[in-house]
Amino acid sequence: MPAGLGPRRARGTDPVRRSCCTNLVGVDAADISADLEHVLHTADQIDARGTELAALIDADYAGRRPVLVGVLNGAMIVMSDLCRAMHCHVEVDWMAVSSYGSGTRSSGVVRILKDLTVDVAGRDVLIVEDIIDTGLTLSYLVHNIATRGAASVRVVTMFRKPEALNAPAEADEIPDEFVVGYGLDYAGRYRNLRDLATLAPHVYR
Ligand code: PRP
Repeated sequence: MPAGLGPRRARGTDPVRRSCCTNLVGVDAADISADLEHVLHTADQIDARGTELAALIDADYAGRRPVLVGVLNGAMIVMSDLCRAMHCHVEVDWMAVSSYGSGTRSSGVVRILKDLTVDVAGRDVLIVEDIIDTGLTLSYLVHNIATRGAASVRVVTMFRKPEALNAPAEADEIPDEFVVGYGLDYAGRYRNLRDLATLAPHVYR
């Protein structure tokens, strides 16, 4: 019999695979779902929206080669989905910033923790965000990148809060609640959820 055509081992019967699956499903996933209240956008809905946004970006930047700038950490997932759904040439770079504010609200006073590696002078820059909350972080970043001589600076975000300043019209508005998943965190956790969901009050009260 040619190699690779023998009987396949049933999923989960390999001792190494079984122990990995047990760790992932038996512990982490059960704990995460117990902390959620409502799913606001399913993974499929987010995926469909990402495909629409990628098509709009492809059309807007036809014949150009934009630099996509992801804002760490939250934008890691939307960046990876968006850029793979796009068909035009892109370059990808990252910034990490820290916003000062009281409690959970940003003041717009921003410190750069990780700067760009690409020289954006003369380039078309598209800042990629997971969410715009107040909009103050993005206002700072748009101004900061524009002062480096970028040819254009635009923003794409998957979600926006109701009071967000200068958010693109395409962003899906979500309620002003604790929301996690698809890159959004609470205390550094829940970014890896595929759905976008509200957090149950027992987690943050
Ligand atoms: C979130 C989000 C935006 C910012 C928006 O990042 O990813 O970058 O807040 O807030 P604003 O519109 O009120 O300025 P956060 O600072 O929570 O860091 P993270 O990306 O590491 O989660």
